[in-house]
Amino acid sequence: MEVKQITISQNVTLKEAMEALNRVALGIIFINDSDGKLSGVLSDGDIRRSFLRGSVLGDLVSTVMNRTFFSLPVGTDNEKIIASFTEQIKIIPLLDVEGRVVDFATNKKIRQIPVAAPQLDGNELAYVTDCIKTSWISSQGKYVREFENIFKERIQLPNALAVSNGTVALHLALVALGIGKGDEVIVPNLTFAASVNAIIYTGATPVLADVDPMNWNLSAETIRPLLSEKTKAIMPVHLYGHPCDMDGILDLAKEKNLFVVEDCAEALGSLYKGKPIGSFGDVSTFSFFGNKTITTGEGGMVLFQDSAIAEKASLLRDHGMSKEKRYWHVEVGFNYRMTNLQAALGVAQMERLDQFVTKKREIAEYYNSILKEIPGITLPPEERWAWNSYWLYTFLLPLGDEERSRLTNGMNQDGIETRPIFFPIHEMPPYKNYVRGDLSVSKTISRRGFSLPSSVNLTDEDRQRVGESLIRHLPSIVGSSVK
Ligand SMILES: Cc1ncc(COP(=O)(O)O)c(C=O)c1O
Repeated sequence: MEVKQITISQNVTLKEAMEALNRVALGIIFINDSDGKLSGVLSDGDIRRSFLRGSVLGDLVSTVMNRTFFSLPVGTDNEKIIASFTEQIKIIPLLDVEGRVVDFATNKKIRQIPVAAPQLDGNELAYVTDCIKTSWISSQGKYVREFENIFKERIQLPNALAVSNGTVALHLALVALGIGKGDEVIVPNLTFAASVNAIIYTGATPVLADVDPMNWNLSAETIRPLLSEKTKAIMPVHLYGHPCDMDGILDLAKEKNLFVVEDCAEALGSLYKGKPIGSFGDVSTFSFFGNKTITTGEGGMVLFQDSAIAEKASLLRDHGMSKEKRYWHVEVGFNYRMTNLQAALGVAQMERLDQFVTKKREIAEYYNSILKEIPGITLPPEERWAWNSYWLYTFLLPLGDEERSRLTNGMNQDGIETRPIFFPIHEMPPYKNYVRGDLSVSKTISRRGFSLPSSVNLTDEDRQRVGESLIRHLPSIVGSSVK
């Protein structure tokens, strides 16, 4: 709501003020003098009391408005604003130096709960400061190696390369495997478009596979009908933190002699049959974008089973330049390196990965406890063989787009950011030619999927606010009552 919608002149009547209060529905309006400066506030209660004292509808607002009000200068930091809210003061006008209202603060507005925000209060600052103090800010430096070593150990693969983001991690993986023009790569229809884009960058053709209705990921069953002479690789994407059923996919890949490139951007910390995701494919990739389970701002990692392929990728990451002979390029390479500054963040973040996953699972448990009471809701999957790291808690509504928009708007008004699930890839213009079979499951899930705030720094109070908002809006939207 804009400031001008909740501001009236002190020369209007009480009737007009009541109409404004009714329209605004915040319980209060701001009153300006003839210079546009805030001269008073008027609440529902102020008007009620004035009528009890004998005012009539035609009286001027200036005769009854409250001239002693609490305000703060615009630009006041959030902590101070939050500390100023009391039982009486729930809406605070924010004034410029002239005394004009330029904004206003409500608890909900100030404390918008984001869908995914990073937590950087461990050793991040100390390690980044170390980079700056020692001048190791580019892609040479101890944190890059350390970050790669931590991943090798964690994912149990012998080769790791830190790169600039999760998209180039995928591109580098595919190029290092020799995938290019004339080849086909099978990729799920329900993913972030970067998975598909990386295939297109190589000149290869993505073939869109439908997903399993239970775990929302591609499976051996959805891949098999799409195989052709040209198929070179399968790209399982562990969507929203839930692992793909890897056994079937690996068997199929072995049978048909295909590479497996695991896109683990959303699933760091997830386990398949007790083993870390990312440890199954020929190559696996991760993203450390700001909304991911751990972040380096922008960043990615690519891990390889085969040391010779990893060596080739290492060369390609660094302009295709010979490691022995400076400025001698043996391939047309890329600059896909990660900086030491980013890696310093990554090392600090990895120190707390287990803590982060535990927190995400607690958040999931809490949301599950609320949503399971609402008929028609499908909770996020967790197959018996899976350990879901719940990167972004995502559930299915019983209905489609319109109901989802109503829930989005309702929760937004409660100061809660939410997200729809990804669009099915095949419906977007650049990807229409990559359809080969039925994609109905991914389409249905995409219409119904809805993501809730899942940041590791979500407080108990935030979590409760999300829960209350769901209970407030969801039953009427899905046409049921809470059990
Ligand atoms: C499944 C998936 N793959 C790839 C990427 C690309 O990663 P980045 O944003 O780091 O390039 C993302 C997310 O951003 C993703 O969700």
